[in-house]
Amino acid sequence: CRTNTLAGKKVIVTAGGTREPIDPVRFIGNHSSGRMGFALAKAAVLAGADVTLIAGSNDHLETPPGVSRRIDVGSTRDMKAAVDAYYDDCDLVIKAAAVADYRSAAPAKNKIKKNDDVLNLKLEKNPDILYGLGQRKTHQVLIGFAAETTNVIEYGTAKLKKKNLDMLVANDVSAKGAGFQGTTNIGTLLYADGRVEKLEKMSKFALAEIIVDRAAKIIA
Ligand code: PMT
Repeated sequence: CRTNTLAGKKVIVTAGGTREPIDPVRFIGNHSSGRMGFALAKAAVLAGADVTLIAGSNDHLETPPGVSRRIDVGSTRDMKAAVDAYYDDCDLVIKAAAVADYRSAAPAKNKIKKNDDVLNLKLEKNPDILYGLGQRKTHQVLIGFAAETTNVIEYGTAKLKKKNLDMLVANDVSAKGAGFQGTTNIGTLLYADGRVEKLEKMSKFALAEIIVDRAAKIIA
C-alpha cells in the first residue's frame, strides 16, 4: 500500500509488552516481542504518516527508518502517560502492545528473599489505556488488538464495543503461526459496523500493511 494514503496524518503505534516491577530484579511481563507493532510502524511510515512509536519491552528491535519519534516505556502507567501526551492532535492510534492488566500493589524496595514456601503478591488493576482513549475520542480513529485463546470473535467484539473502537484485530494467540513472537500472524478484522474480515496466516508486515490500508479507508 505504499501510496501515501496516510500522508499528513499523525499516527501513534504501541508495540511490545509492559512490565510491572515486583522488586528491583523481578517483574510481571508477557511474551510480546514487539514485532507486530514495529511492523505497523513501518507500514504507517510507508503510507506517508508521521509516526510516534511507543515501545514497551521487545526483542531489541531497531526503530523502522522514517519513524518520527520513538518513546521507550516500562510500565502500563508509563505507556498511558506517553500515549495520552500525543493523543489529542493525532489522527490514528493502533494499539498492538500487550499491556499488563495488573501491577504489584507494593513493589519491594529491595530484592525479596526466598524464605517462605508460599509468597503472596497483592496485585492491583492498571488503567485500561485504550478504554480511556475511547472515552475521550474526538476525531481519532482507534484500532485495538485482542489477544484471545477462546471465543476470539465474541470476546473481540465485546472489546471493540466497550473501548469505543473503529476496528479491532483479533488474534488467537494459541494458534500455530499466530500471536506472540514469530514473524507471522493470523488476524480477524472486526469493524464497528459489524463487518468481519477473516485473514489468512501471513507475515506480520503483510498484516500490518492491510491494517494500515483499512485504517486509511476509515479516515478518508
Ligand atoms: O509483539 P509480538 O510478539 O509480535 O506479538 C503480537 C501481539 C500478540 C502482542 C499482538 O498481536 C496483540 O494481540 N496485542 C494485544 C495484546 C493485548 O494486550 O490484548 P488484550 O486483549 O489484553 O487487550 C485489548 C486491547 O486493549 C489491546 O489493544 C491492548 O493494547 C489494549 N489494552 C489492554 C489492557 C490495558 N490495561 N490497556 C490497554 O490499552
